[in-house]
Amino acid sequence: MKTRGVVFGLAWLLLGLLSCANETVEVCEAELEDGLTSSRRGAVVNATIHAWDSYKRYAWGLDELKPVSRSGVNTFSGMGITILDSLDTLYMMGLESRFEEAREWVATELSFESVGIVSVFETTIRALGGLLSAYEQTGDEIFLEKAEDLGNRLSVAFEDSAIPKPRCSLSSRTCPKYLETDESLLAEVGTLQMEFHKLSRLSKDKHLRTLGRKTLDYVRRLGSSMQPEHNGVPPSVVRIDDASFTGDRRTFGAPSDSFFEYLPKMWVLMRKRDDFLRDMFRASVRGLADFLIAAPDVGVMVRDQIHGVFLDRMEQFTCYIPGMLILGIDAAESETERREWEILAANITKTCAAFFTHGSRGLAGELLYTRDGKVQVTPGYELRPESVEALFYMWRHTKDPIYRDMAWQIFQSIDTHCRLDVGYSAVAFVKDKYEPRDVMHSFFIAETLKYLFLIFSDDHVLELDSSVLNTEAHPLKVDVDP
Ligand SMILES: *[C@@H]1O[C@H](CO)[C@@H](O)[C@H](O)[C@H]1NC(C)=O
Ligand SMILES: *[C@@H]1O[C@H](CO)[C@@H](O)[C@H](O)[C@H]1NC(C)=O
Repeated sequence: MKTRGVVFGLAWLLLGLLSCANETVEVCEAELEDGLTSSRRGAVVNATIHAWDSYKRYAWGLDELKPVSRSGVNTFSGMGITILDSLDTLYMMGLESRFEEAREWVATELSFESVGIVSVFETTIRALGGLLSAYEQTGDEIFLEKAEDLGNRLSVAFEDSAIPKPRCSLSSRTCPKYLETDESLLAEVGTLQMEFHKLSRLSKDKHLRTLGRKTLDYVRRLGSSMQPEHNGVPPSVVRIDDASFTGDRRTFGAPSDSFFEYLPKMWVLMRKRDDFLRDMFRASVRGLADFLIAAPDVGVMVRDQIHGVFLDRMEQFTCYIPGMLILGIDAAESETERREWEILAANITKTCAAFFTHGSRGLAGELLYTRDGKVQVTPGYELRPESVEALFYMWRHTKDPIYRDMAWQIFQSIDTHCRLDVGYSAVAFVKDKYEPRDVMHSFFIAETLKYLFLIFSDDHVLELDSSVLNTEAHPLKVDVDP
């Protein structure tokens, strides 16, 4: 038995090596890795194919698929946002023919000339981030050309005000007032600098080359507006005319979230040389301590604060925090602090997984809270990525297989309860019953499925030493030259 086993094993290995000779490194390694991981990855790729093919059949060229009514809808003023958001996912997964059809659409159909009012923040992270990432991965100039056109149109948001205007028209290149009070939100101001930094470095256009600096200056301005009593975590509303903070809410969740996330991400993207960003990040992580509370059985909750009072509930949005801590871990001041951040990241990740495990149907609602000493999760699920994002960073950092297992459990819940004949849908809980919501957000392929894919892939598929994922999970390459 034993000998036969060894001989069989050798023959298998030899066969493996022989077949590897003709394959790319990636396929070869995939053959030699454990079967469980590769079959899980295969299931995630299959889910992506189902989501993409459904979009293609029923909503091609429109922003997002409506999976229940089997049609499409323009939720982003009509820029085919699902296509722009999916490019790098399709490419990374090796879905070549699908990537090619997406590329073809970008080359021949995409025009920002007919796109009206958009959110500057959402368009930057999804469309600009998606195009730049596709360009860096493929070297195909068409993506840079489109990114340059889009960057130019968005740049009207940066003219004559202390911070960017939140909504602008890509066609008329104007930014109407959208709030009587001329205010913007923390995330809207502080989540532009990675994409515009990248565009500045890739483009030869003189105007575009100034925008990286400009968008980073907004963040410095926010840093300078911060008061000692904010303790690294300022209120979530910002005045457009003078960049001062206002409002009665302090939170790591919406609408502040990616402002904090981009402090370490931008720091890493710029090769950890900007001490201002590092210090702001460090201060915000220290301020985070005030927002934490233990959740029975599951880990640590991240609360938010209104009128100076903490509310004992956690938004699923805050589940970017573990990844933020891991990615920015070199900003810790000492070995002790580093260890604290690692423990905290693990603790919050537990709660992020609990959004699913304690949620009804194994799905994660928007809020987690405690009642009578028990963890509760609001029902429903919006196809959000933040919990699997946390698992991805924890997997990479610790290589503890528990994170892969948690991710697999989450994937199965999504595949069981959100998959329809056409695409995947968000799920709502209405009048005591679960219903598919008629929406497949573009971030489902861009982020949720991409993070799941990466969790079940080898590290070389995306090295975190050389790339930083933006807040929409589009990888951008770390600066190379000085
Ligand atoms: C993916 O889908 C194909 C075709 O439908 C199927 O043959 C295969 O078993 C699926 N793979 C996984 C891992 O689910
Ligand atoms: C996190 O978890 C560890 C044990 O893993 C525990 O000792 C610690 O108190 C927890 N809480 C925080 C806020 O880190």
